[in-house]
Amino acid sequence: MSRKADNPATVAAVEPGALEEKALAAVAAAGSVDDVERARIEYLGRKSELKLALREVRDRETGMTLNALRERLETAIDGREEELRGAELDRRLSENVVDVTLPGEERRLGTLHPTTLTRRIVEDAFLGLGYEVIDDREVETVHYNFDQLAFGPAHPARSYRDTFFIDSVRLLRTETSPSQIHVMEAKKPPIYMVSLGRVYRRDEITATRFPIFHQFEGLAVDRNLTLSDLKGTLLHVMQTLFGEERQVRFRTHYFPFTEPSLEPDVSCPICEGEGCRTCKYTGWIELGGCGMVDPQVLSNVGIDPEEWNGFAFGCGIERAAQLRHGIPEIRPFWENDLRVLRQF
Ligand code: DAH
Repeated sequence: MSRKADNPATVAAVEPGALEEKALAAVAAAGSVDDVERARIEYLGRKSELKLALREVRDRETGMTLNALRERLETAIDGREEELRGAELDRRLSENVVDVTLPGEERRLGTLHPTTLTRRIVEDAFLGLGYEVIDDREVETVHYNFDQLAFGPAHPARSYRDTFFIDSVRLLRTETSPSQIHVMEAKKPPIYMVSLGRVYRRDEITATRFPIFHQFEGLAVDRNLTLSDLKGTLLHVMQTLFGEERQVRFRTHYFPFTEPSLEPDVSCPICEGEGCRTCKYTGWIELGGCGMVDPQVLSNVGIDPEEWNGFAFGCGIERAAQLRHGIPEIRPFWENDLRVLRQF
């Protein structure tokens, strides 16, 4: 405190020596950053003794003395604050020690739902054939779900008992086939597209039926397409889904929007065609519907059936996933039981 000896006089209203002593004692006593802030306000704040005195200064010497005191106090306060912040950091670093030998918290990775896994395989198979993959609307109109697909006026699927109607014109699509219409309205042939997604039917829940399920729907429109193009396409996709040894056969059937209409069967991937419970001892499993696009459907969307023709098919995705993974029922696909889903 040599300053005190140099300048024992009272300057203005303050006695610098005593003030410095008091201020430095307060700073030294500060146990936290907040305490330091309080000392800063008390000794250097706008209303502090020192600041008030500085405002009153008239002579150069007093001014220099008080300014020098202000600087020393600032230095002391800043230094104490830094010291306390450093101590606080040290304390936290030493308290929050990480023990790298403790076992970590396990984070389980999720898995893809079997429906999604199968859907992606189908998408990849069609992308490989140059098809465009489409994700279409689930709320449809009678016009797209039935009329444009040439469903007769008395077709049972049009009934409120079979289909979830929202009002007299809107409904939850009963199949992915209306995507055919949307795509054909939107672009000119040649068209190669596959549309995948949910469909809805008013079915009771049983081992094999559920009111929501997924389908994939394919459509090709080009010149001079034949049933063998359809068969080769389905064979490629079935072999991608169920293995190279799979075969495909057609049985005749009826759908309003194809002529001829067929049901494709795939040779049973469970018993390799030998006959088992899954294929009801026939060696074959039914996998949806297909056929050559009815010329009426092409005319409905303004495509000339004299110049263009097409084939189409629709299959259930859960059905395919059941066969791929040996899942005997459809219900587990919708129950979200993690014990089941974690197996995939
Ligand atoms: N939409 C039919 C169904 O859900 C399946 C189907 C049959 C789709 C023939 C087609 C087709 O594209 O050509 O049962």
